[in-house]
Amino acid sequence: MPGTVKLGDPLIHVESCRSTQALLDPSMAEGTVALADFQTAGRGRLGRTWEAPPRAAVLASILLKPPAERPLPQLALVAGVGVADALERLTGLSVQIKWPNDVMLRRAKVAGVLAEAHDGAVMLGIGVNVNQSRDELPERAGSIRTATGREWDRDEVLDAVLADLGVRYDQWREGGLDAVYDGLGSRDFLRGRTVTVDGTTGTAELIDRDGRLRVSTGHGESVVIESGEVQYER
Ligand code: BTN
Repeated sequence: MPGTVKLGDPLIHVESCRSTQALLDPSMAEGTVALADFQTAGRGRLGRTWEAPPRAAVLASILLKPPAERPLPQLALVAGVGVADALERLTGLSVQIKWPNDVMLRRAKVAGVLAEAHDGAVMLGIGVNVNQSRDELPERAGSIRTATGREWDRDEVLDAVLADLGVRYDQWREGGLDAVYDGLGSRDFLRGRTVTVDGTTGTAELIDRDGRLRVSTGHGESVVIESGEVQYER
């Protein structure tokens, strides 16, 4: 699988749209990015809404065409690693990944990823909270501003995310999740926490090398979870 995929070439930038994935079409070139200053109907995982005030967040969808042998759920983790690399590089703070798709800064969710398959392509949605104030954010969410105490240039954040995600995407295309695991295993936010996933409660042990969450349920027993919504104790 030769070559690298340049993310953001071309870049479609609109002031407002329902949601950025609606600006993409699977016939477009891999790496096309749709960016909006505001979404009127932004979507999160599991049918949730994703809201941000105008010009406060990075709201982007990226058209990708990964090799068929790469499992789609891994792509959300790969994107999480790319976003975490970028935010660490920009802020100098350590960033964690909360399985399966959240990026955490100072124990608050600062970015979310949504990977959806469409006709052989994947639309990878990324929302990064950049300049929201505390009262513009949901509970348990944060922004780069709330974590660092100052405002950030959204273009600078976008450029860093696209560059670092591009590197991680190429590594994953060529070498699978093993190739990005250095940026994932060590950033596991849930590790050691008490979690409940779809009715199973235990202690999160690790994100395994296939991208699944291993939860210890006691007496030396573990379950491996492929997907789901995690509740955790602080
Ligand atoms: C989540 O954490 O639930 C995923 C959130 C993904 C939000 C981004 S913002 C850009 C793109 N457009 C959307 O409507 N959703 C994604």
